[in-house]
Amino acid sequence: MSDSNFITSTIPAPQTGLGGGQPGAHGAARLVMEPPPQYLGAMVNVTNHCNLRCRHCFVFRDGNPNDPDGEMKPDRILGELRRLRDRHGIVSMLWMGGEPMLRWRVLEKGLELFQRNTITTNGTVPLKDFGANLTYVISLDGPRDVNDPVRGEGVFDRVMKTVAAIPDDFRATVMVQCVVHRENQNHLEELALELMPTNVQGLTFSFYVPRAGEDSPRAWPSNEDREEAVDLVVEMKRRHPDFIWNSARSLELLRPPVCKIVTDHCPMQQTMLPLYIEGDHFTTPFCCYGNDVDCDRCGSWGVFATAARWRGPWDDVAP
Ligand SMILES: C[S@@+](CC[C@H](N)C(=O)[O-])C[C@H]1O[C@@H](n2cnc3c(N)ncnc32)[C@H](O)[C@@H]1O
Ligand code: SF4
Ligand code: SF4
Repeated sequence: MSDSNFITSTIPAPQTGLGGGQPGAHGAARLVMEPPPQYLGAMVNVTNHCNLRCRHCFVFRDGNPNDPDGEMKPDRILGELRRLRDRHGIVSMLWMGGEPMLRWRVLEKGLELFQRNTITTNGTVPLKDFGANLTYVISLDGPRDVNDPVRGEGVFDRVMKTVAAIPDDFRATVMVQCVVHRENQNHLEELALELMPTNVQGLTFSFYVPRAGEDSPRAWPSNEDREEAVDLVVEMKRRHPDFIWNSARSLELLRPPVCKIVTDHCPMQQTMLPLYIEGDHFTTPFCCYGNDVDCDRCGSWGVFATAARWRGPWDDVAP
């Protein structure tokens, strides 16, 4: 997502009807409560089908709405998105899944509903040139030997084939997102060097969002343990300032103790409405990352990029 997709602002006061806590605590009640809470952006899973089974994926964790059987039909998805756009004042849409490009015909029509659009894709399905009002985010989690143990055998080469097929006059912005975790943190530069000669315009690093209480080879036990990976990205940003799109400030906010102040006042909770498919309707889990998340160790790019542009309680600690 390019910088222009964000609006600099002060973190908003809790909205009427939402109480003082995190809006996500209200779950799906947000879709019916009056007056309707307003959100600048939303993310939507347009399908729970996926052709990959990445080991780190939050969508397919237990306790999240992710059943691919009997899901909403295209016309109903589009009708509901139009209604929710008008009810909640949604300006930007982040199209996800499952794999959203498995339903590219829904995307083609859905893009017309919103002023700004981002499609996050696993890159195994060819990109469509839907026009300039769009950013594609392709997911890759390292060079081949590091990406494929997480995202599947042969996936790196399939994605690089998709990337190589992007024509020079492709109108949409194309960037890559890499989820940094303990197992790939020492291989990030190799990924950047593979992508720089291609038509990918930029690379962002999002840091792994673990489940509550997760103890796994991917999750850092604490944010102090994560700092070495943050340092590596800060160094890369210094070496490749134009290609690495994380802002220097967003990376500084990922350091303890300020990162906890950011996640305690998560800007995505205030501004993004998560929409997951549950049978014939949309539902909203706690946050974009689902229901079972460890906010204290969340390193979501969206959270820290937004915090870096907004004024908030974190400014007292990291002015
Ligand atoms: C859930 S996927 C859906 C879209 C598409 N299938 C894809 O892989 O890009 C959206 C993004 O979330 C990232 N992601 C998955 N699990 C994550 C986790 N536990 N923490 C942070 N990001 C994660 C993926 O790597 C991908 O970039
Ligand atoms: S491709 Fe995307 S949705 Fe599918 S398993 Fe991987 S991260 Fe999850
Ligand atoms: S997991 Fe991250 S994005 Fe979700 S509510 Fe917690 S801090 Fe915000």
